[in-house]
Amino acid sequence: MKIRAVYPGTFDPVTNGHLDLIKRSAVQFDKVIVAILKNSDKLPLFTLEERVEMLKEAVRGLDNVAVATFGGLLVDYAHRIKASVIVRGIRAVSDYEYELQMALMNRRLSSKVETVFLMPAETYTYLSSRMVREVSALGGSVHGLVPPGVERRLKQKLSQKTDI
Ligand code: PNS
Repeated sequence: MKIRAVYPGTFDPVTNGHLDLIKRSAVQFDKVIVAILKNSDKLPLFTLEERVEMLKEAVRGLDNVAVATFGGLLVDYAHRIKASVIVRGIRAVSDYEYELQMALMNRRLSSKVETVFLMPAETYTYLSSRMVREVSALGGSVHGLVPPGVERRLKQKLSQKTDI
């Protein structure tokens, strides 16, 4: 049986930690759909289109990975695209509570979709999109923490506005 997995998130922006998880998922599952939430209540730094573009660039060459956007409930989207697995990353114990809540809510909403947690490489355990935005906004280097296209776009954003 071929297993399709959905890896949902805000990806504002995609980091090398996300990419590490995408690559691990691509080994474990037949198809991985990286799905960006369209109408998050978070105010994103990058537009949806920019985030799609950055992710597409980052996963180029990974043949069984696709990038998409979704709205509404994640489990409904998973049903629509015939994904039976939701992939989420856990970096540290601090992630666990939120992730457990989300996984159990999703399980309550649909027993047909199973959440699978993956750990990124140790190098990325402290890495988050929020940290990347903050460090970058304050003039620090995020080289090696994000794909090159993201680093370039962060610099562009920074030159456009002073308060990220
Ligand atoms: O990267 P994030 O911001 O932690 O991702 C959160 C995301 C997009 C996975 C989560 O907010 C989500 O699945 N939203 C869709 C709405 C939904 O299904 N909510 C019920 C489950 S908590």
